[in-house]
Amino acid sequence: MARLKVAVLISGRGSNLQALIDACADADFPAGIVLVISDVPGVQGLSRAGKAGIPAAVVDGKDFEGRDRFEDALTGTLLEAGPELVCLAGFMRVLGDGFVGRWRGRLINIHPSLLPAFKGVHVHERVVEAGVRISGCTVHFVRPAVDDGPIIVQAAVPVHADDDADALAARVLSQEHRIYPLAVRLIAEGRVRVVDEHVLIDGAAIPEGALVNPVDG
Ligand code: GRF
Repeated sequence: MARLKVAVLISGRGSNLQALIDACADADFPAGIVLVISDVPGVQGLSRAGKAGIPAAVVDGKDFEGRDRFEDALTGTLLEAGPELVCLAGFMRVLGDGFVGRWRGRLINIHPSLLPAFKGVHVHERVVEAGVRISGCTVHFVRPAVDDGPIIVQAAVPVHADDDADALAARVLSQEHRIYPLAVRLIAEGRVRVVDEHVLIDGAAIPEGALVNPVDG
């Protein structure tokens, strides 16, 4: 079976990229990474791609005048690799309507909260500050609004009384590394449909496999 061609867009550390690289290293995994693009030169994620022998490119936001030109360059670079799915993995730029529309249905993101709660940045600080008991992470299709779009997979984690943002971030991150490959797998298996802006996982009335219950750690 042909593997789904995936491109991954990063801006930094690339630990989610690494989780996808590791998943794709399994010959039975139904997707493979054809290209990594960073909008920042010299980041750790680019080294991870290099070590895995995956083609990588830098499309540096600073080299372009305005978001449209940057996003045209991004699309041009993507098209050369012909991805069927584009994964944002710690990509720290807000993408415009043109780019999001161009890749609609083929563009997904991971966010370190249980969306639609805690959109935006400094998520874990705000979660701890709010005193909520459960947090988590979400993989979703990208829509023009920031951190918005049909939810594919979520994982929940407990928030402990003595957590600071770093402790919570680490607990959430370990779940991110589980659910991003899971979401890519579900899409690659052709099991994901969007109906009325809700994701349906083929063969499951309840989106079985799209929910990871709270875990400790
Ligand atoms: C992750 O927490 C992800 O949810 C958020 O940015 C962070 C990226 O981390 N969008 P990494 O670069 O994948 O390690």
